[in-house]
Amino acid sequence: MSIEFKNVTFGYTKEIEVLKDFNLKIEDGQMVSIIGHNGSGKSTLAKLIVGLVEACSGEVCIDGVNLTPENIDEFRLKMGIIFQNPDNQFVGVTVKDDIAFGLENHNVPREEMIKKIAHYAKLVNMEDYLEANPENLSGGQKQRVAIAGVLAMETEIIIFDEATSMLDPKGTKEIIETIKNLKRNENKTIIMITHNLEEVVFSDRVIVLNEGKIVLDGTPKEVLRKREILEESGLAVIDSIQLISEIESSNLPNKQALVEALWELTFAM
Ligand SMILES: Nc1ncnc2c1ncn2[C@@H]1O[C@H](COP(=O)(O)OP(=O)(O)OP(=O)(O)O)[C@@H](O)[C@H]1O
Ligand SMILES: [Mg+2]
Repeated sequence: MSIEFKNVTFGYTKEIEVLKDFNLKIEDGQMVSIIGHNGSGKSTLAKLIVGLVEACSGEVCIDGVNLTPENIDEFRLKMGIIFQNPDNQFVGVTVKDDIAFGLENHNVPREEMIKKIAHYAKLVNMEDYLEANPENLSGGQKQRVAIAGVLAMETEIIIFDEATSMLDPKGTKEIIETIKNLKRNENKTIIMITHNLEEVVFSDRVIVLNEGKIVLDGTPKEVLRKREILEESGLAVIDSIQLISEIESSNLPNKQALVEALWELTFAM
């Protein structure tokens, strides 16, 4: 399913516009990363897509259809979102209940529900915690459960709003692998909102937001090269990209000199 913002203006209050005349089209089946400093409008974009807030003017279209209060319930069934703070999305007494919650809203038959819970809990490595109380989980474990709950709904659009912020590096890699597989096998439209530039290299497209405006839009290779704009947008450049640019600007005769330079740069950072 495609997602399109057409001249969208939105503010939480009349005085401050978070987005002004905003335009963006995300194609069906695309995996898009959205990055930007705190308060740049990333979560606001996500909320507009899933209809948690409504545009003041302009249109937010899903599959070419403008979202309205009348049709939003129907579209919500096709979209899943994992929010920044996993504490806000727990409702059940056990992890199992929590994963089941979304499925119940989708009227999934019981037999199928049990299979899906087991499958998605395993996908996020939480299969041993199905009977645990979600309140007693660590932040990263809560995020895993929240991810399983949304994946289990098998929606066509999935939005991860900093959904891996509490995971350790290995956990983050595993979740990204899962997301990549989903995309490859099921052609979902995926939006990854993140502060972790290492995550964006897996996307088809990267969008950089600054003060509610798109300042960069391209493939990860194109976007991550734009050091100046990234820094102006309050984003740190990935170490390896910094290394590449340092090496590009230096004069190295051979492999040994390159290795030495890499060591020195690693400790200089
Ligand atoms: N519920 C709200 N009421 C009023 N203003 C809000 C609300 N939520 C966000 N804002 C404001 O809207 C702007 C954009 O916020 P948003 O949450 O979209 O940023 P973000 O890019 O997701 O930031 P972060 O990286 O911190 O999650 C900010 O200036 C913020 O203060
Ligand atoms: Mg946010």
